[in-house]
Amino acid sequence: MKIVRKNQLRPGARDAVLIPLFKGADPAPLGREFPALQAAAGRRRMKGELGEALACQALEEKRLYLLLGAGRPGSLADARRCAARAMSLLRENRAGRAWIVFPGPGPWPADYLAAWVDSLHLNHYRFDRYKKKKDRGLERVFLVCRGRAGLANAAIGEREKVLAETTRCRDLVNEIPAEIHPDALAAVFAESARRHGLRLETWRRPELEANGMNGLLAVGASSCCEPALLTLTYEPPAPHGGRTVALVGKGITFDAGGLNLKPGNSMEEMKSDMAGAAAVLGAVNAAARLGLAVKVLGLAPLAENLPGRRAYKPGDVVRFANGKTVEIVNTDAEGRLIVADALIAAARLKPDLIVELSTLTGAIVSALGDSYAGLFCRQRRLAADLLRAGERCGERLWEMPQPEEYREAITSKVADLKNASYGGGSSIKAGLFLAEFAGRVPFAHIDIAGTAFLSKPNAFYAGEGATGFGVRLLVEFLKELSGNA
Ligand code: BES
Ligand code: MN
Ligand code: ZN
Repeated sequence: MKIVRKNQLRPGARDAVLIPLFKGADPAPLGREFPALQAAAGRRRMKGELGEALACQALEEKRLYLLLGAGRPGSLADARRCAARAMSLLRENRAGRAWIVFPGPGPWPADYLAAWVDSLHLNHYRFDRYKKKKDRGLERVFLVCRGRAGLANAAIGEREKVLAETTRCRDLVNEIPAEIHPDALAAVFAESARRHGLRLETWRRPELEANGMNGLLAVGASSCCEPALLTLTYEPPAPHGGRTVALVGKGITFDAGGLNLKPGNSMEEMKSDMAGAAAVLGAVNAAARLGLAVKVLGLAPLAENLPGRRAYKPGDVVRFANGKTVEIVNTDAEGRLIVADALIAAARLKPDLIVELSTLTGAIVSALGDSYAGLFCRQRRLAADLLRAGERCGERLWEMPQPEEYREAITSKVADLKNASYGGGSSIKAGLFLAEFAGRVPFAHIDIAGTAFLSKPNAFYAGEGATGFGVRLLVEFLKELSGNA
């Protein structure tokens, strides 16, 4: 699907026309242009509230008109929800091309229209690789703004690059676990490196052993596919401010829980446990495609967590490359072990900061649901930048506390740390655990277990499955850092 801005409404024979109806807007100009719609809206007492929708087919033309309650005119959240609804209605009505008319007088700020563009694309996406019957979807959407509008076609094109990377991320996360194991994901990274001229360093068993990456080696021990640590580097073309950001993403290609096997229904969606790694890949690719003026290191620890003869066991102690030892209490708390390795490796590259995303704990789903990811960060400036980036693009974060006194709960009797502790606050304890491995580099941990994969559609996504959460957030954050925002 392609989105294009147009100055005038000139729909072709079978194109649909969609008009957002805003709360408190003057209906008179709408009535003059679309009298039939105006009358019907009056009968239905439409007030411009989100969720209101009216579809009518003009008799003389073979054209579908949709009038949609669009909420508050400046609200980005309302724009996202209205666009999600618009896309489901257009799909239901099998529209091939649609014109969306933003009524006068405007103005329509760039961020408002960008919210529409993002949400239209995000809701157009379907994962149908394994379906015989594929939905054709929309080919084109034209945006017509009455009044001043701040988003040029070039800017829509830029947005579409980021959205294409979001789509790639979603495809990877939705792909079946038989196809996405560490070897396959490493090949996908290599393909991106070739395409965008990025440097890729791949560590497999020999390098992992030489560098003491024992978290990865323990977690990946029972899989027939060996673990890996990938580092994908984007170096900006022109001299830049000298800032280097390391992004780290958990890449468990399937999480069965290991010997602490997950019960059936908790395992169902565990192909999505590499969503952090996929988001990091998307963000590094997007940074390259946009030519951002910041150096980006994308680190992805990859492993499959399975039970088996060689599986690591509760009671084992793993020695990490920073000297810390960890008692394994539960093999299902595997994410923090492979991410700890990647954080040590990232810190050794001396970046200015580390942002890490992981589908780390079920507890963050209980705490925040699927609309907010949990942010754990001790550096106020970094936390504020990430929170702001999240608000701007709609991938929202909620800051979680990291109380000193919870640290005791992850102290082991036989080692320096233990990888799990029961009795509540499990997301917080996981965050405290990770902070032990980032050295002195400013560090943010983002728990995306609730936001990366939806078991049912929500207010912002009309479809279930992978959301691509993190790609747009990280790009927004990097853009701001590089001064391109
Ligand atoms: N990958 C899971 C976390 C998860 C849960 C992601 C639900 C997405 C949806 C993680 O590896 C895990 O199993 N965490 C355990 C930790 C516990 C054993 C301390 C959990 O949260 O139950
Ligand atoms: Mn697990
Ligand atoms: Zn996991």
